[in-house]
Amino acid sequence: MSTSQSSTLKIGIVGFGSFGQFLAKTMIKQGHNLTATSRTDYSNSCLQLGIQFFRDVRMFIEANNDVILICTSILSFSEVLRSMPLACLKRQTTLFVDVLSVKEHPRDLLLQVLPEESDILCTHPMFGPDSGKNGWKDLTFMYDKVRIRDEATCSSFLHIFAEEGCKMLQMSCEEHDKIAAKSQFITHTIGRTLAEMNIESTTIDTKGFQTLTQLKETTMRDSFDLYSGLFIHNRFATQELENLQHALHKVKEMLVQRMSEELGPEED
Ligand SMILES: NC(=O)c1ccc[n+]([C@@H]2O[C@H](COP(=O)([O-])OP(=O)(O)OC[C@H]3O[C@@H](n4cnc5c(N)ncnc54)[C@H](OP(=O)(O)O)[C@@H]3O)[C@@H](O)[C@H]2O)c1
Repeated sequence: MSTSQSSTLKIGIVGFGSFGQFLAKTMIKQGHNLTATSRTDYSNSCLQLGIQFFRDVRMFIEANNDVILICTSILSFSEVLRSMPLACLKRQTTLFVDVLSVKEHPRDLLLQVLPEESDILCTHPMFGPDSGKNGWKDLTFMYDKVRIRDEATCSSFLHIFAEEGCKMLQMSCEEHDKIAAKSQFITHTIGRTLAEMNIESTTIDTKGFQTLTQLKETTMRDSFDLYSGLFIHNRFATQELENLQHALHKVKEMLVQRMSEELGPEED
């Protein structure tokens, strides 16, 4: 690998589920060399993509990757990271990148578990297979350079997203989690709540209601593991869930109050 910003990287993906595969396709298109490992055997899909798949994590770790990109679920991240035979890493400095939708949790674990020589980049692409299906232009890519010494490899990795036209946003993991609890977690919670109510499109849909049915559908395409991870591993999410409950209660009170003003108090 040279030091220019757009060097070809050897990237090893851990967790080759829906999001790992989605990212891999663009990385292959850009000419990077990919390998993958996962709990499930993805040998066949990897063969079709021209990626080497390792069932054996040890062989994956020994494959001398510039970057190890962790795309596992939030809930399994700790177990997956701790079960990696990190002592078998060949390179002095390997860049570890995570893409979890919460950020303090992987940052803390990566700092705790990885060898001191490893670099750490925590990221959250604010898009997925649905919103990014027609390209990544103008979609936000959040990142925090938690521990970077090899700037060249880090900037080559970031370049993958910059080249696709992403809005590159450097932000601390803490700031990310504060904002994401108010935005992404609430979006998913509303989507899941609408699904729980079985809302369906009708013959008299307003544009607003179409937006809600769309929200329900896109939210339900993400796994429940992903959604519960947004809650369990973001320390700001509990408060936002309470705020939502409180707000719904307040709105109901306002309606009941207004009804009693209009119609008079209910008689027994
Ligand atoms: N989907 C999105 O739009 C999106 C956007 C940004 C970031 N992310 C993040 O990307 C990551 C992957 O998301 P996802 O959409 O693919 O769905 P997910 O349900 O969050 O994660 C699925 C991945 O986790 C692995 N996994 C789950 N449980 C495991 C366990 N007990 N042990 C080992 N591996 C396990 C799966 O491996 P196998 O497939 O081998 O079973 C699969 O690779 C998550 O951290 C998510 O927060 C997702």
